[in-house]
Amino acid sequence: MAEKFKETARVISQESLGGQIYSMWIQTEQIAAAAKPGQFVSVYCKNEAKLLPRPISLCEIDRENGRLRIVYRVTGEATGTEEFSHYQAGDAIELLGPLGNGFPLERAKGKRVFLIGGGIGIPPMVQLAKELDDKAVAIMGYRNADTFLDRELSEHATLYVATEDGSLGTKGNVIDCIREKDLKADVLFACGPTPMLRALKAYAKEAGIECWISMEERMACGIGACLACVCKSTEVDEHSQVKNKRVCKEGPVFLADDVEL
Ligand SMILES: Cc1cc2nc3c(=O)[nH]c(=O)nc-3n(C[C@H](O)[C@H](O)[C@H](O)COP(=O)(O)OP(=O)(O)OC[C@H]3O[C@@H](n4cnc5c(N)ncnc54)[C@H](O)[C@@H]3O)c2cc1C
Ligand code: FES
Repeated sequence: MAEKFKETARVISQESLGGQIYSMWIQTEQIAAAAKPGQFVSVYCKNEAKLLPRPISLCEIDRENGRLRIVYRVTGEATGTEEFSHYQAGDAIELLGPLGNGFPLERAKGKRVFLIGGGIGIPPMVQLAKELDDKAVAIMGYRNADTFLDRELSEHATLYVATEDGSLGTKGNVIDCIREKDLKADVLFACGPTPMLRALKAYAKEAGIECWISMEERMACGIGACLACVCKSTEVDEHSQVKNKRVCKEGPVFLADDVEL
């Protein structure tokens, strides 16, 4: 089983990317060295009333310097993510990770790859784009022209943007963009809201594309112990002996055909 670590790490820097989105670089001892794209960390709150850690994807991994970057959206006042947004350089931050399975990079070897992100599903696509041998085509869906991580993505992939209000790139969703630009791929890796993943699963089937999705299900323990995060699977799960999978343990990345959305 892959190793995970509970660490009191240090915040290196924190900046607002606009629109309630924050970016934090964190110095870790062990987690960065073991981490893979598509994995996540559980971040503990200092407010003891909030017992459950918050799962946040790894946006960038700097193994050489033992650093991780997370990019997250503040979900509301007095929430865990709001607490994180006040952390400053030098502050301690309690982490457990790396968690989950990550994206199967080996499936991309010699293939044309789509990286597709929607909203707060965009961050894990940055490290994935960095680690692919060949430049992928990245298609990112935003609400409007208040984009984030587009500079990093365009450095490591060929970037296309779709916006719901049409203020930048293709007007509509990521599939509208693929069709408008007549883009082609053999494999796709995606992360974002469930309706987007559901539409991509159907699109990939029709287009004959192998489709891997990362699910951002609500979680509690984050380590496979509580079953708060199960999703329906097409096959019987070895652990539970029923048709479900724990997103935190068997996922968050699944072959789209293996899960019901
Ligand atoms: C694998 C994974 C990766 C994620 N990566 C990111 C990321 O990179 N950036 C980002 O902004 N968000 C990400 N999320 C969503 C993020 O975990 C939630 O927005 C966050 O937990 C909300 O916590 P809160 O205290 O602000 O809100 P609250 O609503 O106060 O949270 C209460 C509880 O619900 C859980 N919860 C609430 N919303 C979600 C959700 N959407 N998914 C899972 N648990 C939830 C929290 O963990 C907590 O236990 C990810 C979720 C998962 C499962
Ligand atoms: S969050 Fe507890 S089993 Fe997944």
